[in-house]
Amino acid sequence: MNSALRRKSRIVVLASGRGTNFQAIIDASESGRLSGEVVGLVSDNPNAAALERARCHGIPQVVVERKSYPSKREFDCGLREAVRQFSPDLVVLAGFMRLLGRDFLDEFSERVINIHPSLLPAFRGLDAQKQALEYGVRYTGCTVHFVDEGTDTGPIIGQRVVPVMPDDIEDTLAARILVEEHSLMVECINTVLAGRVRRDGRKVIMYGG
Ligand code: GAR
Repeated sequence: MNSALRRKSRIVVLASGRGTNFQAIIDASESGRLSGEVVGLVSDNPNAAALERARCHGIPQVVVERKSYPSKREFDCGLREAVRQFSPDLVVLAGFMRLLGRDFLDEFSERVINIHPSLLPAFRGLDAQKQALEYGVRYTGCTVHFVDEGTDTGPIIGQRVVPVMPDDIEDTLAARILVEEHSLMVECINTVLAGRVRRDGRKVIMYGG
């Protein structure tokens, strides 16, 4: 068996905020429900609560701020260097609120995934739960997808459906979706790390398991 098969897969998480999805990944890893280990956190926000979560679990962290770079392209390269040092098998965007450019994505080709709180392709971008409420849908949900240069446009790996209740406000709907996000995230990471997905253009073909 070669060393790549023997060792646990290395996961690097990118997060901008409170980091509950990040925490769900850590918890799954620590309890043996995840087939990989979180080897680093990279954030664009020095005040992200996710950084404190990393500290609590002894996970190395790096902050790469947009304002430290004169251009978006240079910021992308800064992010790429920060992630590259952890030699990841998979890069997981867990509430990372910036678009990634070609310089970053080419380096980790087909190994970057994101979670979004809607049933894509509906309600891309910011405030997806608010968009769903304003549109009046009866069901929304969450999606894990491969990342491309667009806003929440990459090929879809997994989705969960969540009902919208008549008395929902943004916070109650977001909380209901978040519960599903946490388990979908873990499930999709395991599926990708097990090599049980193949991309065929926009489609993600699942097999085995
Ligand atoms: C999550 O709801 C995630 O789906 C969303 O940000 C939140 C982060 O929460 N991501 C996006 O909207 C990306 N387009 P968390 O920091 O508690 O994981």
